[in-house]
Amino acid sequence: MSYYVTTPIYYVNAQPHLGHAYTTIAADVLARHMRQRGEDVFFLTGTDEHGEPVALAAEAEGVSPKELADRNAARFEALMPRIEATNDFFIRTSDPRHTEAVRELMVRIHEAGHIYKGEYEGLYCPRCADFKTAQEVGPGDTCPVHGIELTVEKEENWFFRLSAFQEDLERLFDEQPDFVRPPERRNEALSFIRSGLRDISCSRSGLTWGVPVPWDESQVFYVWFDALLNYVTALRFAREGEDLTSQYWPAAVQLIGKDILKFHAVYWPAILMAAGLDVPRSLIVHGYLLMDGEKMSKSLGNVLDPFEVMDRFGADALRFYLMREVQFGADGTVSTEGFETRYSTELANDFGNLASRTVAMVERWRDGNTPAVAHDPVIEAELSGVAAEVAAFLDAVEPTNALEAIWKRIRRLNRYVEETAPWVLAKDEAESQRLDQVLATLIEGVRVVTVALHAFIPVSTGTLIAALGEDDLSWRAATWRPVGTGSKVGPLAPLFPKP
Ligand code: MSP
Repeated sequence: MSYYVTTPIYYVNAQPHLGHAYTTIAADVLARHMRQRGEDVFFLTGTDEHGEPVALAAEAEGVSPKELADRNAARFEALMPRIEATNDFFIRTSDPRHTEAVRELMVRIHEAGHIYKGEYEGLYCPRCADFKTAQEVGPGDTCPVHGIELTVEKEENWFFRLSAFQEDLERLFDEQPDFVRPPERRNEALSFIRSGLRDISCSRSGLTWGVPVPWDESQVFYVWFDALLNYVTALRFAREGEDLTSQYWPAAVQLIGKDILKFHAVYWPAILMAAGLDVPRSLIVHGYLLMDGEKMSKSLGNVLDPFEVMDRFGADALRFYLMREVQFGADGTVSTEGFETRYSTELANDFGNLASRTVAMVERWRDGNTPAVAHDPVIEAELSGVAAEVAAFLDAVEPTNALEAIWKRIRRLNRYVEETAPWVLAKDEAESQRLDQVLATLIEGVRVVTVALHAFIPVSTGTLIAALGEDDLSWRAATWRPVGTGSKVGPLAPLFPKP
């Protein structure tokens, strides 16, 4: 079975911030890990360029929506290699190949009888491009996401018969209990469905920045329809001359932040059903990165710039910090101080020093040759389970737990150095065999955690595996080997120098 993983496509009304890097890094960890396991992976990310949020931001800046979209899409695209994201394609919804595919799919939905002309009046947030239901309205008729006042909007336009999918959606949640994870988010989506679904508008009049409705060119499709469909349209043109739909759809994992749960857990499967397409295998919802107790967001002005963070600490450090600091799924606070602490205590001390010391000891006492002797069974017993544990956590999309499982082993290896005190053994000829065993065991331990960590911190693990005289970073190599290989190690410069 193939493994298609997606991120939300990001609005180009602003520059990328740490929140966008967060979801993309999580998706990349999964993509890299599954590739290590030999899976057929496709990883998609991109930008959401149409609709009111972008049109409004462009107007405020005095540029055309297309100019703003081009400028900011380029910034998002440039972010990807900087965070070491290995996306197979970057979709822009202003791509004519996407807009054509949207038109075709929406015609299909229309012809199947799921779209009709109607009128609607309600409280609307132009930043969310969303009408709010009674439960979703904040105090004083404000938007709970943006804190701005909602406006009363009335419109006559095309409606998608969402209400007709009530039972199908309830059945989906019933038959596929893991469709939305974690369970709190599943329950939230399910209770929204059970509270009774109303039809939703799927087009806008008076807005030109969008995909024109083929049967009524005076309107454009509501941006969420255009945007959600990216996950399937991209497969039609991501690879020149090929249609990847049957190879990769339905997606294995669609990652989103909890802010866009309703669109993905309720509207999206209904749209797919209406178009006669399969629903994704799972929708994984993570929490908010907070700063000073509030959601990090452009409108609140409390954003950390991922480019700046990487200039100081590097991409690996950013990736590690985000997957480690905040329990994936929950909200969590991030800060510059938090970065510095994790960087120096965990990356530089726990892992970096362990690697440097281990390589240096083999260079010093064994001329850089890993002793080809049997490993210490005590350490083998504690490390050999790590590959299966990490794979299980990543199957469940629990990257924070996967890192903790690895760190438990790194801490164990550091204790092993202290317990065995190789520098004492090295002084005693009679302990030569024991020193061989300790050094070989440490090299093997470092090798195993390096392979396990590769999806998280690809740059430093790439350097380190070469310094261990190895090149296999496939998941097979995360298995503990009982006997040292005799590989030549070193030299190794500090992996995480002081920023
Ligand atoms: N364009 C829509 C999504 C369409 S998907 C078909 C959108 N874009 S967005 O630019 O606002 O990005 C939202 C996503 O960015 C969130 O769902 C989440 O993945 C990520 N994050 C943005 N800010 C975040 C935090 N402060 N914390 C965690 N994730 C954040 O919504």
